[in-house]
Amino acid sequence: MGTRRDASGGRTRQADHTGDTRRAGPPVVVVTGASSGIGRETARRFARRGSRLVLASRSRPALETVARECRAAGAEVLVVPTDVSDERSVDALAAAAVAEFGGIDVWVGNAGVFAYGAFEDLPSEVFRQVVETDLMGQVHGARAALRHFRPQGHGTLVLIGSLYAQVGSPAISPYATSKFGLRGFAECLRAELRGSGIRVRLVLPSTIDTPIYRNAANFTGRRVRPLPPVTSPQRVARAILRAPRSHRFAIPVGRIQTAVRPVHDLAPPVYDAVAAWLMDHVELHGRGPAADPGTVITAPRAAGAVTGGWRSPGLRLAIGAIAAAAGGLLLSRRMREANRRT
Ligand SMILES: NC(=O)c1ccc[n+]([C@@H]2O[C@H](COP(=O)([O-])OP(=O)(O)OC[C@H]3O[C@@H](n4cnc5c(N)ncnc54)[C@H](OP(=O)(O)O)[C@@H]3O)[C@@H](O)[C@H]2O)c1
Repeated sequence: MGTRRDASGGRTRQADHTGDTRRAGPPVVVVTGASSGIGRETARRFARRGSRLVLASRSRPALETVARECRAAGAEVLVVPTDVSDERSVDALAAAAVAEFGGIDVWVGNAGVFAYGAFEDLPSEVFRQVVETDLMGQVHGARAALRHFRPQGHGTLVLIGSLYAQVGSPAISPYATSKFGLRGFAECLRAELRGSGIRVRLVLPSTIDTPIYRNAANFTGRRVRPLPPVTSPQRVARAILRAPRSHRFAIPVGRIQTAVRPVHDLAPPVYDAVAAWLMDHVELHGRGPAADPGTVITAPRAAGAVTGGWRSPGLRLAIGAIAAAAGGLLLSRRMREANRRT
């Protein structure tokens, strides 16, 4: 547990790494979903920079593992088990951060879950919990953070979106619903907060090598793997750390997949055919477990690793080559068909 902030503190008011010049002392950073993947790596990096950290996710033992790493890097750390889908739990997280450290400078809304399955195959409770976590969890976080940012007159909300805030795909409807919604929410907040001194940043990762794919609910009857190319969580964490100082609102990470945006916007039938093919032949493969809710509803006790093991050179090469060759072939065939029709 960290020490309370000394009001005089002897600290100078220099610009800190969050770009803020008003708060004295190391910045206070709340990270939700800090027990695994991107959140865990983000917490470690803020710790190395000397931030005071407030770590949140559902499992205390998992958070304690990450807290030990951050304290070993010299950071003051507060652990607050939190279910972001529960508004009161998120309010309590913000209140605990302020009670411990006197304020909040950066709120990283990162907690998230994933679910695979055709819309009609997904149980309603799984669909709802993905939306409650990935969208409403961010809404609760923004409300709680703004309650403290407003009187301070500053603060940064860093919301972790996804490529799937911009394009859809079969078999991921609750996730895309949440992330599209998050993008709309973030844009509205950005407009409402103009001139307030409070910043909103939306990080949009493509496919990232984390445990999320093994944690995902799976109602497809097949095994799942991420769509290549797979980017490292370290790159996302670097983008998150830069976000409070960035002048950009939307920050994509993993640019190759962002290249699908023009196809999505200009030729929707082509995009749909390619997305369906990739889901059916690359992301889903073989025979998988029977219906599995993953960690969507119940948290694992142990901390997740930072990486998911999807970037071994052989695996990347093989999956990438198959996906690129097949996607290219399909795309050119669809383009030829479209040209013939016009
Ligand atoms: N990996 C990718 O390819 C990718 C791509 C684009 C965007 N993203 C986004 O990046 C963020 C982090 O994902 P990741 O890949 O690092 O996944 P991850 O390794 O599975 O980590 C997810 C984190 O969220 C926490 N969490 C889940 N449900 C929660 C709840 N109800 N309340 C509080 N915490 C909860 C988990 O802890 P507990 O289970 O212990 O609560 C864990 O700490 C997510 O928003 C995800 O949508 C990931």
